[in-house]
Amino acid sequence: MILKFNSDLTKQEIYANGDDLSRALAFDKDGRGRRVYSWPKEKKKLVVTFKNPLLVTDSYKISQLNPTLRDTVFALFSYPLKITEYENTSLEFEQQNYPGVWGPSIDTLLFCKALKKLNSNNFKTAIEMGCGSGFISKYLINNSKIKRMDLADLNKYAIKCAKNNIKNKKAKFHVGDALKFLKNKKYDLILCNPPYIPRPKSIDDNPYEGIYLLNYLITKAKNNLTKNGVIITNISSLCEHLVKPLAKENNVKITILESLEVPLKVYNVLNNPAWMKYLLKRGLKKQLKQGYEYWQKINIVKIHKTKSI
Ligand SMILES: C[S@@+](CC[C@H](N)C(=O)[O-])C[C@H]1O[C@@H](n2cnc3c(N)ncnc32)[C@H](O)[C@@H]1O
Repeated sequence: MILKFNSDLTKQEIYANGDDLSRALAFDKDGRGRRVYSWPKEKKKLVVTFKNPLLVTDSYKISQLNPTLRDTVFALFSYPLKITEYENTSLEFEQQNYPGVWGPSIDTLLFCKALKKLNSNNFKTAIEMGCGSGFISKYLINNSKIKRMDLADLNKYAIKCAKNNIKNKKAKFHVGDALKFLKNKKYDLILCNPPYIPRPKSIDDNPYEGIYLLNYLITKAKNNLTKNGVIITNISSLCEHLVKPLAKENNVKITILESLEVPLKVYNVLNNPAWMKYLLKRGLKKQLKQGYEYWQKINIVKIHKTKSI
């Protein structure tokens, strides 16, 4: 399937493509009536369009479709290959090939939308810390005059996915802790869509939760910027209470580039009552609307040194 988003993220189109066409959409014969099981990936057919997507996989919106269409779309989501497209950038993702990797999600796309607000021609060197699938880096390479793009992630499968999707010599791939990699280096642009869900009694007990990366970005990463360098990151309402005081103490200015209120859809958090209780007292909103009960606001922000900008 192809999940295609328009530039301002007001429209999501879902296409069946390649083998989906014969297994789900009844395109199972060629022009001469012969059975066809396999079509090229490029061959596609629009199945449904959603307005104002708040999630990449919105099971509630899908469940509102008529039954045949609903089940067809659920079937498409159950097939392994998902291709995400945003403007000139496309990425192939199969979760089973990349265990534990965060595929392109609505915050990934909002992040790319925010990058359009920068004059990216000013930036020659960039790093993406915690690159996941690599979508954001690929988008930046396609839409800037970047000469070198470093991608770092703890998860070796994230780097495998990014490598398989980015065939460009400007991209250099690194498995491991991005903070260690960053040591003694400077960049024009530091990108990071980090983990942002704080956990009770801990803000950085493991690198997949908490605000370990965000903490560094706010308190120390300005030392890793070149003169007019910029940090772009994502600060969710779920961790604002921790981030705002850090920013104040460290004299950093945060400017919001893009914001979106989205449902919280991380099941191991939603199904953990103690964790939910903790978040509800902080930036998580409980309100039943559009098929979802718990909401957070994601903010894609630019971090600068107060004095320099
Ligand atoms: C929320 S996902 C975002 C992935 C991708 N940037 C995107 O927007 O689609 C956060 C990523 O950060 C990685 N990560 C977390 N802590 C890290 C660290 N200290 N060093 C490198 N990667 C880290 C995780 O493995 C994960 O891939």
